[in-house]
Amino acid sequence: MTQAALSPETLATIEEAAGLLRGNPRVLVFAGAGLSAESGISTFRGPKGVYNDKEIARLTHVATFAKDPEAVLSWYQQRRHQLTEVRPNEGHMALARLAATGHYTIATQNVDHLEEVACRAVGTRPEILRLHGSLARVRCHSCPNEYEDMMVDLSSGPRCKRCTGPLRPGVVWFGEMLDDEVVNAAMRAASECDVCLLVGTSALVYPAASLPELAHEHGAKLIEVNPEPSALARKCRFQLRGPAGVVLPALEAALGLQQPR
Ligand code: OAD
Repeated sequence: MTQAALSPETLATIEEAAGLLRGNPRVLVFAGAGLSAESGISTFRGPKGVYNDKEIARLTHVATFAKDPEAVLSWYQQRRHQLTEVRPNEGHMALARLAATGHYTIATQNVDHLEEVACRAVGTRPEILRLHGSLARVRCHSCPNEYEDMMVDLSSGPRCKRCTGPLRPGVVWFGEMLDDEVVNAAMRAASECDVCLLVGTSALVYPAASLPELAHEHGAKLIEVNPEPSALARKCRFQLRGPAGVVLPALEAALGLQQPR
């Protein structure tokens, strides 16, 4: 799909929404799996969502690691391997360029690192907060040892060098707490932002989804970029219906940062 395929109504709404992004605003981007969908990473929910497979829903719960660590680790190792093959899409790239036009914080639920890759390529440095951790990191399940490591093969059941506890991916599973520092920084950004841009998220998973709600309570305007309405669509000032890889570049074009394609 190209920008030319967006309906005249959507293009008009994008023009209007772009008005909120002018004048160096403070923007909180709240990103979800849909942002990476056009890079070939499946979403969790929706028609092609991986949670249609009950087994995968099971593998993302902390209790499963105790019962069946081999299954959990081999699935996560496949996802880590996928990271070496995927690239940022036009949505990530547009977001990275938009970050130069205001004070941007990206609070992402995604555990890929495509926002960072795009920002490095473009040369922008918004604060990126990984609410659900990172596939590129590993951590010990028994002690606080955690570090970035794409070389270790989690499916081989590696042990922590400090305490010999089992190593696991550096992601947050259902049944676990989010990192306090990350949550506090994201809450600060949510309560201080002028605009909250919800990109590719169903906004169904808490506590993450409380961030756009907090932004809304503090008077920020919400803009949603999603082909389908999210759970928070009704709170959004603008609903931009279309894939992130098309709508975000269209937002950029509306701001005069790039030619429409
Ligand atoms: P979901 O899978 O719940 O939702 C994906 C959203 O992306 C849906 O609203 C789709 O309509 C939308 N979407 C699909 N393709 C898109 C595209 N090309 N452009 C824009 N939007 C598109 O993903 P999340 O909201 O990220 O948590 O899910 C939140 C959390 O649930 C995940 O971080 C994960 C999961 O369980 C943990 O693993 C802890």
